[in-house]
Amino acid sequence: MLSIFLSCIVSAAIQAHAISVSIPLTTPSNASSVSPSHISFSIEQDRWTDWPGSTVSTKNQFVANALGNLVNLVGEPPRFRIGADSEDRTNYQPGLEFTETVFAPPSAAVPFPEASSVVVGKAFYQAAQNLPPGTHITWGVNFKSLNLTAAFLEAGAIADAFDSFPVSSGITLDAIEIGNEADLYTNNGGRPANFTIAQYVPQWISFASNISTTVPIGANTTTKFWGGAFAGSNHSPTGFSPQGLFNNGILTSVPGMLINTISQHVYSGSGLGCGTISSCIQDLMSKPFIRGNLSQFIPDIAATKAQDLTYGSANVSNSAGAALWALDYAFFASSLGIERLYFHEGVGYKYNFIQPVTLKFSIDDGTPLPEPRLPHVQPAYYGAIVAAEAIGKSGSLSVSELSVNNDNLSGYAFYTSEGQLSKTLFINSEGFFTTSGTNRTSIHLDFSFSGTTGQAPSRMTVKRLEIGHADDTSGLTWGGQTYETPDAKASGTVLVETNPVVDGLDIPATQAVLLTFGP
Ligand SMILES: *[C@@H]1O[C@H](CO)[C@@H](O)[C@H](O)[C@H]1NC(C)=O
Ligand SMILES: *[C@@H]1O[C@H](CO)[C@@H](O)[C@H](O)[C@H]1NC(C)=O
Ligand SMILES: *[C@@H]1O[C@H](CO)[C@@H](O)[C@H](O)[C@H]1NC(C)=O
Ligand SMILES: *[C@@H]1O[C@H](CO)[C@@H](O)[C@H](O)[C@H]1NC(C)=O
Ligand SMILES: *[C@@H]1O[C@H](CO)[C@@H](O)[C@H](O)[C@H]1NC(C)=O
Ligand SMILES: *[C@@H]1O[C@H](CO)[C@@H](O)[C@H](O)[C@H]1NC(C)=O
Ligand SMILES: *[C@@H]1O[C@H](CO)[C@@H](O)[C@H](O)[C@H]1NC(C)=O
Ligand SMILES: *[C@@H]1O[C@H](CO)[C@@H](O)[C@H](O)[C@H]1NC(C)=O
Ligand SMILES: *[C@@H]1O[C@H](CO)[C@@H](O)[C@H](O)[C@H]1NC(C)=O
Repeated sequence: MLSIFLSCIVSAAIQAHAISVSIPLTTPSNASSVSPSHISFSIEQDRWTDWPGSTVSTKNQFVANALGNLVNLVGEPPRFRIGADSEDRTNYQPGLEFTETVFAPPSAAVPFPEASSVVVGKAFYQAAQNLPPGTHITWGVNFKSLNLTAAFLEAGAIADAFDSFPVSSGITLDAIEIGNEADLYTNNGGRPANFTIAQYVPQWISFASNISTTVPIGANTTTKFWGGAFAGSNHSPTGFSPQGLFNNGILTSVPGMLINTISQHVYSGSGLGCGTISSCIQDLMSKPFIRGNLSQFIPDIAATKAQDLTYGSANVSNSAGAALWALDYAFFASSLGIERLYFHEGVGYKYNFIQPVTLKFSIDDGTPLPEPRLPHVQPAYYGAIVAAEAIGKSGSLSVSELSVNNDNLSGYAFYTSEGQLSKTLFINSEGFFTTSGTNRTSIHLDFSFSGTTGQAPSRMTVKRLEIGHADDTSGLTWGGQTYETPDAKASGTVLVETNPVVDGLDIPATQAVLLTFGP
């Protein structure tokens, strides 16, 4: 691939602010480790087979390529959690060849409704063989119907599928999740109104005891349980929260000792009282909101880490601003000690990173499209690509948030396992919209370096995530390249600038930049 190096770029129109940023050259004490699969995916189970393709001969090559781009950057595939709402509406029927699903018709409010019933056979689980080699998967089983036989049959079929994959594929069953968002079961008919965490825990233990034998899951197996998977957390020892699970003895139960991750769902951007589309997008990607939304989980993360468990999180949102939101959200989450994020995806969901199959209905209002829309990536996918490039292939990377005294600018520095500065990411989350009616502002950064090893760098290469407007739904470029192609492979010439560090850097509103410093 051809690279163009431009030396010196014209400075942008309006320089609203100049900010000084100090970058430590060696790993600061507040750095957190970041996994190559930090950005992973949660898939709504009802249309799961659309993602990999249902059989080897009908593999979904678009999805394979879109995931392959990430594998090429970080050296391993994103992880998958398959389940969510429809996990609790799934039943296994031995001998069934094709999945049988029942969907409500599309509506303006819900263009792609979830299935009200999903009946699956063994091919449903075997479709996982089409994911990239080395993919780690967590699969959910039905808990809401409180039918142990149903969960037992699903768990058996999941185990059989993974047993049938060649060891060389590296496709691994990481964990079983028992039920999705059980804290909401009292609202949706799954449990009586007086259902509490104290009742949840023994029900979970009874299911998990059975499933641990069926899969199997044990002290010496690679497969474990995920605990929690609640929609929210009231952070209290008597409510639905990690603390509530621990206080009710889940971890000292025989199967509970096999929990290695507490999963927590976070909804960003749903039901915001934010008025216009622009103000919703601005809120979604705003630095203070991202910090407020994630910081509420600090007590839960501390309680989970105190039990030596990892803490993960699922779900979220939509638009070009979502690319910046995904980036800032992902790395701020690392800095809080969140191990991995599973961004929720369905077919036709507005907030998808990837639309895996051809769509016949509008994702905005459910109306039939004049022309079917082929598989494509959405803006948030660029967030995953930029994050993957920031993380790179070094294996054990750590990230530290830089202290930037501006509510529209976030900065992160990445360090190698040897403790050396590898890359630096800045995100200007001030929204520039099609309706802004002003010239685009820009923030000027001046850099200084701290740390004793080596000399301060004198040059930097700059790669930009360029976005027309925060409310655009397409047309983004990363270092001059687009991923909005028929096969999800990057197209266009790579464009990076190489500038003297003393010149500083201009970052226009609604843009992210990745810097690599050098001598
Ligand atoms: C995420 O939100 C959607 C609705 O906005 C919901 O259907 C889905 O089940 C949620 N995801 C998870 C992780 O449960
Ligand atoms: C698990 O539950 C199923 C269905 O009720 C039952 O047939 C099976 O024997 C149980 N297994 C164990 C180990 O309890
Ligand atoms: C429980 O699940 C099994 C397997 O899907 C099914 O045959 C049975 O009818 C279910 N029981 C109830 C009470 O729904
Ligand atoms: C919960 O409510 C059900 C009726 O919906 C009742 O039968 C049961 O006794 C109640 N349980 C407790 C612990 O109050
Ligand atoms: C797990 O492996 C260890 C070491 O190989 C062994 O001592 C132990 O008995 C095994 N535990 C079980 C439950 O199989
Ligand atoms: C989360 O962010 C939304 C906007 O995206 C905001 O309305 C809400 O107040 C935030 N919640 C917390 C707890 O900070
Ligand atoms: C992390 O530590 C570095 C070096 O001490 C410091 O410059 C930076 O401000 C810290 N980050 C935050 C978010 O406090
Ligand atoms: C951040 O962006 C908002 C929205 O455009 C703007 O009103 C505000 O002045 C900016 N704040 C700073 C510190 O630049
Ligand atoms: C944008 O910048 C141009 C060139 O500097 C200037 O002529 C124009 O008045 C500006 N527009 C607005 C809306 O500020």
